[in-house]
Amino acid sequence: MGYAPPMEKFVIHGGIPLRGSVRVSGSKNAALPMMAACLIASGPIRLRNVPDLADVRTMAGLLQTLGVVSNVQGGVWSLHAVDDQACRADYELVRQMRASICVLGPLLARRGRGVVSLPGGCQIGHRPIDLHLKGLRALGAEIQIENGYVIASARQLRGAYVHLGGEQGSTVTGTCNVMTAACLAKGTTVIDAAASEPEVVDLGEMLVAMGARIEGLGTSHLVIQGVDELHPVDYAIIPDRIEAATLLIAAIITRGSVTIEQCLPHHMGAILDKLRETGVEVKCHRNAIQVSVTAPLKPCDTRAVPYPGFPTDVQAQWTALMTLTSGRSVVTDKVFPNRFMHVSELLRMGADIRRDGDCALITGVPQLSGAEVMASDLRASAALVLAGLAAQGQTTIHRMYHLDRGYEQLEAKLRCLGADVVRVPE
Ligand code: EPZ
Repeated sequence: MGYAPPMEKFVIHGGIPLRGSVRVSGSKNAALPMMAACLIASGPIRLRNVPDLADVRTMAGLLQTLGVVSNVQGGVWSLHAVDDQACRADYELVRQMRASICVLGPLLARRGRGVVSLPGGCQIGHRPIDLHLKGLRALGAEIQIENGYVIASARQLRGAYVHLGGEQGSTVTGTCNVMTAACLAKGTTVIDAAASEPEVVDLGEMLVAMGARIEGLGTSHLVIQGVDELHPVDYAIIPDRIEAATLLIAAIITRGSVTIEQCLPHHMGAILDKLRETGVEVKCHRNAIQVSVTAPLKPCDTRAVPYPGFPTDVQAQWTALMTLTSGRSVVTDKVFPNRFMHVSELLRMGADIRRDGDCALITGVPQLSGAEVMASDLRASAALVLAGLAAQGQTTIHRMYHLDRGYEQLEAKLRCLGADVVRVPE
């Protein structure tokens, strides 16, 4: 059966400075690989602070086809792999969400076999998985590609050395896959050029809580001693640093004053550093960030690179902000050089942006004007919401199912800060 998300649009009346405080939900990019890790556990796992997102529900649906019984109450998911016969992740599900590839490592390690559809590309660019396969082959997996599927098998994975760095840096879900599989390999695995994103660290810490032996989390050099089994766990997921950044930019682009609660400033160093460079006042507390705008925004050149650098998942939102500074700036995305679907829609709102390879050359304008625009992918749709909040007049954003993949009730959060935004059927 086809997956047909509801066709809804956002209608935003911009120009209102946001004020007040709002809580951040749990991290989507931590939740997805951690849900997949239930396949490697010898019993049920419980995950707390899981955001209510389309991608989370898609992952639960995929896991169900792989023998996992799950239920959720108030953001607490319990996931139990009760039947370990199935090993195939169908194209129909994988095409909806690339992160489905995160089931491959756990399936291989626990069931000795995984058949996962190649994820294919998406709006933000070519999304290869060669590094995932390189890492799993290093652990001893036999892997073929047939009819658009990865067919992987391994009687017993063995510890190995693997370098996971690619042209654009390391791979986040590739590191998740190889790190998870290595937990049950015989012997020691060293992953060099591993991703060190907080979401990878959170998965690693959950695996350690399940009995895994992993050293180097948070660095690019991981050492994993294989163990015989991973026991059940009850684990709370980190807050979503990308949602927190999106809400901070919403406050700033509307020249408001907002406190973001339940976030971790130490996961957001590069973002906060850039915000200060624009002249915004930023105050950090243990798990809250307060921003307020008192002067015109200064332009600042920004390069999206792997963690701990400025995140590519905030690049589109940041580009929207730079369209309203007092000068010229260059935004570069070294992770996904084509991740600029938001630019053509921002131009329709009066922004002054020129594309040049992996860069957007932006000249600030005094204001944006509301318009009818089209969402194209998760973070581009967030960028259009931010632009609409700042623009004079009404902005209508179509195809908002893209936003629902990664933001939990964003319009409700923005409304509690005073925004005039409603979701209506197309
Ligand atoms: C994760 O995707 C995130 N998704 C993405 O967030 C995020 O943009 C990305 O990491 C980078 O931070 C999840 O965690 C579910 P990569 P992932 O493998 O793992 C190249 C969002 O908006 N590459 O780190 O798929 C790749 O082409 C989403 O929440 C290879 O060449 O990204 C890219 O240029 C979008 N070979 C770079 O590495 C590979 O085998 C980083 O990709 C794998 C990746």
